[in-house]
Amino acid sequence: MKRTSITIMSAIAMVMLLQSFTINSSKKENEEAISLASKEVSASALNFENMKAAFKGETTASAKYAAYSKKAEEEGYHQIALLFKAASKSEKVHANNHKAVLLNGKQEVPELAPDFMVKSTKENLKDAIAGESYEITTMYPDFIMNANKAGNQFSLMSLNYAYKTEQKHKPLYEKALAALESNNVKSLPSVYYVCPTCGNTYDTEAPGRCGISMTDSEKFIKIDTIMS
Ligand SMILES: [Fe+2]
Ligand SMILES: [Fe+2]
Repeated sequence: MKRTSITIMSAIAMVMLLQSFTINSSKKENEEAISLASKEVSASALNFENMKAAFKGETTASAKYAAYSKKAEEEGYHQIALLFKAASKSEKVHANNHKAVLLNGKQEVPELAPDFMVKSTKENLKDAIAGESYEITTMYPDFIMNANKAGNQFSLMSLNYAYKTEQKHKPLYEKALAALESNNVKSLPSVYYVCPTCGNTYDTEAPGRCGISMTDSEKFIKIDTIMS
């Protein structure tokens, strides 16, 4: 009799232990699921904040480079004016792509009045190189990493288009600055092509298809005049 009661008590204790384990383990699973879901929500929210910042940056860069183009022409640096004009069109493509991602995600598109200073062409080139460097080394790699976490394919495409293009703009500006400093501006290219899909920028000659977005080069925007 005594042994039977001990066995029953042991069985009850075992059931209680198992129940407690099941409750604890399902609570842990729930907590993990909630934590994962909130991480996804915050990655998604951060991604749209990043897209807004990128839209602002590209809109400002486009307006700034258009102003720098005028300044270069005024200073007699026609080839540098063409480069700034091509880059301005390219940044506009990026701004429009980022805007499309925001609209597709039912996000508000920020209203903005671009704020920048126009200095000498030499200083403007240095400013452009600094801007492109920041985008290549810091801004776009961070934004792309988070867009990946958020799983937003449109953001990834739009951010990568800009990231890859800015990597081409920087050496174009560096080449222009070197030519300016060595009094050799006229040796710089006098025709540029901009891809309307991704903003990719080619000087002198364009390949059959864009090296970033595969767009047919017949659709490229040709820049060989500062008019229009
Ligand atoms: Fe750029
Ligand atoms: Fe392209």
